Amino acid sequence: MEIKKVGVVGCGIMGGGIAQVCAEAGYQTVTREINDELLQKGLGAIKSNWSKSVAKGRMTKEQEAAALGRLKGTTRMEDFEGCDLVIEAVIERMELKKEVFSQLDRICPPHAILASNTSCLSIIEMAAVTRRPAQVMGIHFFNPVPAMKLVELVQTIITSQETVAVARKFAESLGKQPILAKDSPGFIVNLLLVPFLLDAIRAYQNGLASREDIDTGVKLGLNHPMGPLALTDLVGLDTTLFIADAMYAETKDPKYAAPTLLRKMVAAGWMGRKSGRGFYDYQKGA
Ligand code: 3HC
Repeated sequence: MEIKKVGVVGCGIMGGGIAQVCAEAGYQTVTREINDELLQKGLGAIKSNWSKSVAKGRMTKEQEAAALGRLKGTTRMEDFEGCDLVIEAVIERMELKKEVFSQLDRICPPHAILASNTSCLSIIEMAAVTRRPAQVMGIHFFNPVPAMKLVELVQTIITSQETVAVARKFAESLGKQPILAKDSPGFIVNLLLVPFLLDAIRAYQNGLASREDIDTGVKLGLNHPMGPLALTDLVGLDTTLFIADAMYAETKDPKYAAPTLLRKMVAAGWMGRKSGRGFYDYQKGA
């Protein structure tokens, strides 16, 4: 099966990034948001990334115009009609994801692959609401999508080998390195990352070191591009808490128990970079 047209449900940080790399790689791309305001915000971020790429000489003006021509924004689910692959990147709520998969199953052609970009939720539960569970899988990108090379392919106990093979070729065509994971909590990367982020937050909460020293320790001692507290700000504190809670609920393993400080910061509306405040302050002039 050849993928020509790709749909992305959601045009937030992840959905927008996925739509951007698909349009850049030559796919006709449709991205859908729930209202025009969010859609324009998402499309604006993609256009701004392309302008920066042109300014840096990473993309020509012609390539920018061609990518723009391949990208369509919509607020209608029906516009996924004719897609060969649709990647769901809506908020991490299982009931909402099931509703999206059920709608996609009705709208998309029978050959289409339906994928979820979920960080941790069970793909098989989404597959079960469709009439094509063998064509449902996880295609999990990393934030910021245009800069991160990895894509986790998540195979359920029903996903066919052919579906995985098509997704692998697709990920490679985006210039990404795919790895194959089973449909278990956190797949490969979040299984390892989440306890690490939570331990760093616990260390900070318990006053073991300053936020800067925790981050510098990991950056310079382990050669990570950013420290765990800065990375939690990038991922989003709400997203990190959601993943931790979901993994704890599934496994009951205390290593996924979220520290009180993380819960309180989320309750305060400190979501990290996207809200202007997390472990660090991102507001203008800070
Ligand atoms: N959108 C698009 N592109 C971006 C970007 C963004 N938000 N941020 C950075 N980039 C691009 C830049 O344009 C640049 O591209 P170029 O080399 O072609 O010019 C490249 O990334 C490097 O950016 P910078 O030079 O500005 O900055 P750094 O070298 O400091 O890199 C970083 C920034 C890529 C964010 C780096 O700090 C990094 O890799 N951090 C770790 C990120 C990480 O671990 N992400 C995974 C999070 S976990 C996850 O997503 C899973 C989920 O389920 C929770």
